[in-house]
Amino acid sequence: MKDLQIRGARTNNEALLTWIESIAHLSKPDNIHICDGSQEEYDRLCNQMVDSGTFIRLNEKKRPNSFLSRSDPKDVARVEGRTFVCPIDKSAAGPTNNWVHPAEMKERLEALFDGCMRGRTMYVIPFSMGPLGSPIAHIGVEITDSPYVVVNMRIMTRMGQAALDVLGDRGSFVRCLHSVGTPLSPGQKDVPWPCDPENTFISHFPEERSIYSFGSGYGGNALLGKKCFALRIASVMAKDEGWLAEHMLILGIESPNGEKTYVTGAFPSACGKTNFAMLVPPKGFEGWKVFTVGDDIAWLKPGPDGTLRAINPEAGFFGVAPGTNMKSNPNAMLTLTKNSIFTNVALTDEGDVWWEGMSDEPPAHLIDWKGQDWTPDSGRPAAHPNARFTAPIQQCPTFDPQWDNPDGVPIKAFIFGGRMSKNVPLVFQAYYWSHGVYLAATMGSEATAAAEKGLPPVRRDPMAMLPFCGYNMADYWTHWLNVGRLLPNPPRIFRVNWFRRDENGNFIWPGFGENMRVLKWIVDRVRGQGYGVESPIGYMPRHEDIHWDGLDYDPETFYELMSVDRAESTKEARDHEELFDRFFDRLPKEFIHHRELFKSRLWRSPEVWELARPTF
Ligand code: GTP
Ligand code: SPV
Ligand code: MN
Repeated sequence: MKDLQIRGARTNNEALLTWIESIAHLSKPDNIHICDGSQEEYDRLCNQMVDSGTFIRLNEKKRPNSFLSRSDPKDVARVEGRTFVCPIDKSAAGPTNNWVHPAEMKERLEALFDGCMRGRTMYVIPFSMGPLGSPIAHIGVEITDSPYVVVNMRIMTRMGQAALDVLGDRGSFVRCLHSVGTPLSPGQKDVPWPCDPENTFISHFPEERSIYSFGSGYGGNALLGKKCFALRIASVMAKDEGWLAEHMLILGIESPNGEKTYVTGAFPSACGKTNFAMLVPPKGFEGWKVFTVGDDIAWLKPGPDGTLRAINPEAGFFGVAPGTNMKSNPNAMLTLTKNSIFTNVALTDEGDVWWEGMSDEPPAHLIDWKGQDWTPDSGRPAAHPNARFTAPIQQCPTFDPQWDNPDGVPIKAFIFGGRMSKNVPLVFQAYYWSHGVYLAATMGSEATAAAEKGLPPVRRDPMAMLPFCGYNMADYWTHWLNVGRLLPNPPRIFRVNWFRRDENGNFIWPGFGENMRVLKWIVDRVRGQGYGVESPIGYMPRHEDIHWDGLDYDPETFYELMSVDRAESTKEARDHEELFDRFFDRLPKEFIHHRELFKSRLWRSPEVWELARPTF
């Protein structure tokens, strides 16, 4: 190998320097650059990508310092079928993860990475997941040949010199190796979005806390701090060390008398975390405020005082663009007004962005996400359904200054919600911790565009972590049960469903800001103030237990929204059995108990099953 000069930031961390050297030796880049995270570096890379065609600079007046990127049409979402968790023992990965023996996977990867950065610059990205130096945070380093990844990581994490300072000379870090997998021969012209979909592998080695990702430049496949580190690898670290790494938003609710309550919400991909995290209280909630700590990932650790403390390991949003507008999520729209990166949205004739649902009337002409002319009668979406924006969290109008608190925020409730058009009510509360863990573990959800096509229409998505748990899901449930047992006053657990539809396919619940009504009931409950009727599935609000000021929502519709069909639920219990059967003897014994209780409660007297109707 020719002797390469390392440019950019400096480090004396031996482990890091050795790793950089060995990866350079393997992947044979033309240059090595350690990122310092400065604005100057960011601007330089953005300009370079404008020159190479990877980025289109948006209209400076309409969208200052913002860019559009169009991916290869074969590289548009996470690829669950090509995502692997590779501990030495197959049963440690469990039945929900793809597994290959680590030695075999390493052999495959080493062949793929051999020379894969030829003709490119190898970027070294030091980053902190979580507030710099926080006892809940961790350092990672991503090596990548994609400048798109570098600039996205600068928005999504605390990146550069500051992270190197925390790492110091002896600190340890999670190794995140990434390549788009398309070396360039001398003089070969690059394409705007290099990738290698045929050879894509997203591989995790939990024992050595490392990640190898090859062939994709998109989102969670390539921004390795996010799903790969902060969820798959971190979930294993969390199990070993007694904390939780979860696919959850974090928000704070302040009541008119100034009481602040923090809750988390676990919803599967593209099921409303970003919306909920930035909720705008509706009419009838004057004086209430919502604060955003995070919209996708939460790391939670028991604090010295026995409360469960949460941080958002991320520093930005990588949010779903389609459907976002000034009505559905004004705070997201305001976050995106500058310094943002858009991937796979449409370009307007004025040099701004557009996506389905941004405005009632689509513009008369656009360039679609594939770079082709588009008019409203084209008969195809202008933006890809999984088109995303990358934007700094500090730009969010509801940004919570507690976001950077190294001790995190105290969590009072866990909210779990799937996308279910039938049978799952608007809201109910678990009786107690282990029942709540059961409710979260058996959550179901309908498919969305956040993952590649071909998934079943409804799947069990335990804790919204099915694609993200880095170890055996049954052991994960046991870990959850244990975490609650060790907390003197564990958070209360709730299930919600914003997505119920009537027989014409329309949503029964208005959702978005109106979800505040559900949130208030939850806050009342955790403060010991709200009323809940004991039903076969958990505590439920009656119509009169919800704050309805500003919304005319009649009891009939409410009870339709809250109803649970006995025959459907019996089928549901069978589905739980099917899920559990996959885990054999690793399944926590409590879960069998909870399933039996669920089945027997279902067949209690019909009056009880009439749920919360005010005959009580
Ligand atoms: P990831 O970033 O993929 O993890 O997902 P997310 O959970 O942050 O997804 P996001 O908030 O971007 O979900 C967007 C989708 O949820 C859009 O289709 C929205 O229309 C829909 N959505 C969000 N909130 C509501 C709601 O209250 N009611 C209804 N009906 N849809 C909602
Ligand atoms: C998700 O799919 O849950 C995301 C987007 O948050 S990605 O980071 O691409 O996984
Ligand atoms: Mn997510």
